[in-house]
Amino acid sequence: MPIELAMLYSRVRWEEKAIIREAEKRSDLKLKPINVLKIFFELDSLKNLDSFDVFLQRCVSYFQGLHSTAILEEHGFKVVNSLETTLVCGNKLFTTLRLLKHRVPTPKTIVAFDVSTALEALKVLSYPSIVKPVYGSWGRLVAPLKDPQSAKAILESRTVMHPLYQIFYLQEYVKRPPRDIRSFVVGDSVPVAIYRVSSGDEWRTNTSLGGKAVQCEVTPEIEELSLKAAEAVGGGVLGVDIMEDEEKGLLVHEVNHVVEFRNTVPLTGVNLPKLILDYAIEVAKK
Ligand SMILES: Nc1ncnc2c1ncn2[C@@H]1O[C@H](COP(=O)(O)OP(=O)(O)O)[C@@H](O)[C@H]1O
Ligand SMILES: [Mg+2]
Repeated sequence: MPIELAMLYSRVRWEEKAIIREAEKRSDLKLKPINVLKIFFELDSLKNLDSFDVFLQRCVSYFQGLHSTAILEEHGFKVVNSLETTLVCGNKLFTTLRLLKHRVPTPKTIVAFDVSTALEALKVLSYPSIVKPVYGSWGRLVAPLKDPQSAKAILESRTVMHPLYQIFYLQEYVKRPPRDIRSFVVGDSVPVAIYRVSSGDEWRTNTSLGGKAVQCEVTPEIEELSLKAAEAVGGGVLGVDIMEDEEKGLLVHEVNHVVEFRNTVPLTGVNLPKLILDYAIEVAKK
C-alpha cells in the first residue's frame, strides 16, 4: 500500500511544484496537496484527515503553518516538521537558546525589552551591531545598528510595531566575507550546501534580496555543525544558515523550517524534493 501523504500549502511556489512533480513519479506514495486556506479544522474531530499517514507542512505563512501543525500533531498525526521544530525555528531567540544549550557556535546575542535598556546592551556588544525581529525571514527588518544615534532611531521606530518587534534581539556584527552558507539537513544527512553571495550595496545575503547561489562543498565541518544545529532545534527538513567569522570560524545564526530550494536544486542537481519525500515516508513508517 502506498504511503498517503498530505502536503499543506498556502501558495504553490517552485518548491511545492517540484515536490508534487517528484511524487507523481513514485508508486510508494500518494501525495495530496491541501490548501490550508480552503479547509477548516473541526477541533473535536479530524475524521476527514484520518486516511493520511503523514503531513508535509509547506505553508508560506509562519503562523498558518504553526497553527495547522499544532492542530494535526495534537490529534496524533505525524507532521514534517514537528511542532517543536516549528516553534523553535520560527523564533530566533528560541533558536539561539537551543543552539547555546547544545554548544553549537552562534554569534553573541543579547535580548532587551526596552529601548534605553537595549542601548545599554549595545555598549556591551559595541558598534556596529544588528537588530533582528525574533520572527521573520527573507532578511526583513534585519538592520545594522552603526552608532548610538541610528540605533536609537531604529529601535524607537519598532515601538510602534506589533509587540513581537519590541523583543529587541541584538547581535554582534559578524566579520565575514560577503557571503554565508546555507546547508540543507534532511533527517540525519546533509545532502547539499550553497554559498549565498550578497550583491551590490546589499549586506544581507538572502537570495530573496539578490544573494547569488554558488556551489559549496559539504565539508566534514559543515556536515557536523549542520547536524548538531538540526538536532538542537528538534530535527527534520531544515535549512541551516552559517556565517564564516574571521576569528571564531563557523557560526550558526539561524535554522529555517520551511526551507526554499529553488536556487539550490538547479545549481547543484541534488534532488531535494525526492529526499524530502523519502524522509516523509521514513517518518510515516516510524
Ligand atoms: N550577526 C550577523 N552579522 C553579519 N551579518 C548578519 C548577521 N546576522 C544576519 N546577517 C545577515 O543578514 C541575513 C539575514 O539574517 P537572518 O538571521 O538569517 O534572518 P532571516 O530570517 O531574515 O533570513 C543573513 O543571511 C546574513 O547575510
Ligand atoms: Mg536567514
